[in-house]
Amino acid sequence: MNIWIIHGPNLNLLGTREPEIYGTETLDDINRRMQDYLIKHGHTYEFFQSNSEGQLIDKIQEAYRADVDGIVINPAAYTHYSYAIHDALKAVSIPTVEVHLSAIHSREDFRKHSVVAPACIGQISGFGSTSYLLGIQALEAILSEEQSK
Ligand code: DQA
Repeated sequence: MNIWIIHGPNLNLLGTREPEIYGTETLDDINRRMQDYLIKHGHTYEFFQSNSEGQLIDKIQEAYRADVDGIVINPAAYTHYSYAIHDALKAVSIPTVEVHLSAIHSREDFRKHSVVAPACIGQISGFGSTSYLLGIQALEAILSEEQSK
């Protein structure tokens, strides 16, 4: 499968950004962890991070043209207010899992709501970088179920 991993704003600062919440792994550490898994399981992949909403939307649209099978996205703060990212995911209709490092439902009220989630097949939060791996595994499960139908 061709799986793209998309990271939103401020995730480039992982490692030093509020480590008590987001842990001490850098984005490169997290991507390397996923890369090991993706290679081992025979997937092709691409990692992308941007601090800007437009670039994230352009990447989602590019995924459609590239015939990507599934997306794992951490929209970061855009989770809570980007109808544009929601609409982009709806437009491309690629199976997408929303992931978060922190347990967004146990944090400030504004983090409890995701406007992106209704455009996704599911949401995983609170497992640190393991949330991303679980997101990939969820895609593998859903996509292979679909293939066997
Ligand atoms: C986050 C949670 C968001 O609320 C926050 O704005 C982030 C990171 C997470 O992975 O826990 O930037 O998406």
